[in-house]
Amino acid sequence: MPLVSMRQLLDEAARKGYGVGAFNVNNMEQIQAIMEAARETESPVIIQASRGARSYSQDRFLYHLMLAATELYPEIPVVLHLDHGNSPATCKSAIEMGFTSVMMDGSLMEDGKTPSSYEYNVRVTREVVAMAHAKGVTVEAEIGTLGGIEDGHGAGGSGLEHLTDPGQAEQFVKDTNCDALAIAIGTSHGAYKFTKKPDGSVLKMDRLIEIHKRIPATHLVMHGSSSVPKELQDIINQYGGKLKPTWGVPVEEIQLGIKNGVRKINVDTDNRLAMTGAIRKVLWESPEKFDPRDYLKPAREAMKKVVMQRMTQFGQAGHAKEITPIPLEEMAEMYRKGQFAAR
Ligand code: G3H
Ligand code: 13P
Ligand code: ZN
Repeated sequence: MPLVSMRQLLDEAARKGYGVGAFNVNNMEQIQAIMEAARETESPVIIQASRGARSYSQDRFLYHLMLAATELYPEIPVVLHLDHGNSPATCKSAIEMGFTSVMMDGSLMEDGKTPSSYEYNVRVTREVVAMAHAKGVTVEAEIGTLGGIEDGHGAGGSGLEHLTDPGQAEQFVKDTNCDALAIAIGTSHGAYKFTKKPDGSVLKMDRLIEIHKRIPATHLVMHGSSSVPKELQDIINQYGGKLKPTWGVPVEEIQLGIKNGVRKINVDTDNRLAMTGAIRKVLWESPEKFDPRDYLKPAREAMKKVVMQRMTQFGQAGHAKEITPIPLEEMAEMYRKGQFAAR
């Protein structure tokens, strides 16, 4: 089936009460890992590429790999989403290439680091909403900013400095008519999110619940949602790595989020850890090996295992067959008629 709109997938997830993992990719093995996991669990999927991924892969390669994925896995509905678009121009180039969903992260300025003003965020998000919806493409926006800066997206600090204000989130959705909204509740990107298992003092699930109450029809997005499992950290360290002890977002907290309006859950770090651990193990145990397939194959398997677990834990498993793709032109017509207007 063709690439599908994220709005369609998330609306369906909301109707049935599940969440959809959005997994980052940079290369063929990662796309294959996700597609195999989706096939085995019969899951609809969101595959996302950051600006870094687009430049690393030269994005036409990535786009054509995604087309191969839709050809080879025709039973799986797949969204191709731009993660952390930093400007309307970046979103425009993704839409022109064929992405079916874009994130306009106007919570930060174009440098991806400096928190922006509310007015700036509304202005750039509205611009992207107009251009994307005219083509049936979905828009994710962000209000409040994540902490950390490990991977170049975030305002630094602990993540508690720029939490999303529920009243502002409500106003923002009215002002922009975005389809999905990323909120800041104390998470950050990368492996080093929390120094111990997070409790309510650092991971603000109460705030998420309050936001959902105010904007029940908006799909909430949790960024920085890797769980950073100890087993994956241990494998890396067992085979020569040097990760410091760290904690991610517990899966139970994500599941609580899913009960309270979270429909998209962004996971990148867990897959990075899984692949790196598998590669380290091969090279450590068999230093004579030099065929990249000897370590990329186990790396792909390790990522597939993590993705399958998340698909099951988030509840998307088993739902692929319930989705009949709505063509983007039809989505555009529905936006034009105001069918998705903010309520
Ligand atoms: O938040 C971002 C994702 O983890 C992608 O990171 O910009 O290093 O590709 P990246
Ligand atoms: P993690 O670093 O927790 O995997 O978060 C990824 C993310 O939010 C991508 O946008
Ligand atoms: Zn993110």
